[in-house]
Amino acid sequence: MKQVYNITDLREQITNWTLQEESKIVLVPTMGALHEGHLTLVRSARQLGTRVIVSIFVNPSQFNDPNDFQRYPRDEAKDLDLLRQENVDMVFTPSPEVMYPQPFMTTVSVPEIAKDMEGAFRPGHFDGVATVVTKLLLQTLPDFAIFGEKDFQQLCLIETLVRDLNIPVNILGAKIVRDEEGLALSSRNTLLSEDGIAQARHLNKVLFSIARLIQTGGVSISEAQGVGLAQLAEAGFDRVDYLELRDAETLKPVTETNIGRKMRLLTAVYVEGVRLIDNVQVNNASDWISGFGK
Ligand code: PAJ
Repeated sequence: MKQVYNITDLREQITNWTLQEESKIVLVPTMGALHEGHLTLVRSARQLGTRVIVSIFVNPSQFNDPNDFQRYPRDEAKDLDLLRQENVDMVFTPSPEVMYPQPFMTTVSVPEIAKDMEGAFRPGHFDGVATVVTKLLLQTLPDFAIFGEKDFQQLCLIETLVRDLNIPVNILGAKIVRDEEGLALSSRNTLLSEDGIAQARHLNKVLFSIARLIQTGGVSISEAQGVGLAQLAEAGFDRVDYLELRDAETLKPVTETNIGRKMRLLTAVYVEGVRLIDNVQVNNASDWISGFGK
């Protein structure tokens, strides 16, 4: 496995591959502290392409809270070991100076997607994500790039900017990887105590229960949201940033009149001061469709 630190070396290796062979290059962007969620993306990449590149870069510009950036888990040696075991071809580990040579003046922004949920509670976060992902895609120009549905709003943002800017890459979304009790794997879970993990495990239970409630029908969206918020409070989450039912493609709020489409229930909560996000797919409520959809 090759490790490269700058864009010249990254591009040189990619050019060599494309000259020597019929390569299909897949990029998996990460911020490291890798877990089975990331490794599942890497395995999909391995199946899909002939060459797999993983980037590890804790991107300062997407952290709206400097404390969150400081304490974000980092373990490069372990990450490299894990990626070697997955037969990754190349790891790209740029420094902030390589990624953002000074003066750096450009920002990529998708305000329509970034304006609420994660974007509302983390001002500037999605500009940081959009800018660094655009850079990673242009630096690498892969055939495919894979992102997890764990960060569902981020995935929508990236699909949108790639389409709008005609970046010649196919974006693939990967399902959320959960532990045996349904907790969505996250690098931030390592910051939680055992009690914190136990508490965090309630989050997916509430999401799935509200998804079922909506699918069963018979409640309005605001009623379902109210039940969800009450369940979160009862489960001990004292700080909930949002719990939102959204159109899975546009991320616009779902109303009783547009429920014929695929939906997603998304949330962000705090446990022991650590911010956790999760989301689940919601299928159409059969009686809503027959009741309202006509
Ligand atoms: P990071 O949080 O390291 O996540 C890297 C990729 O792994 C993202 O696409 C994320 O959605 C996916 N991922 C994380 N946990 C997952 C899980 N439990 N199941 C499935 N996929 C999961 O997301 C970022 O980094 C950054 O914002 C980045 C895109 C790299 C830009 O800096």
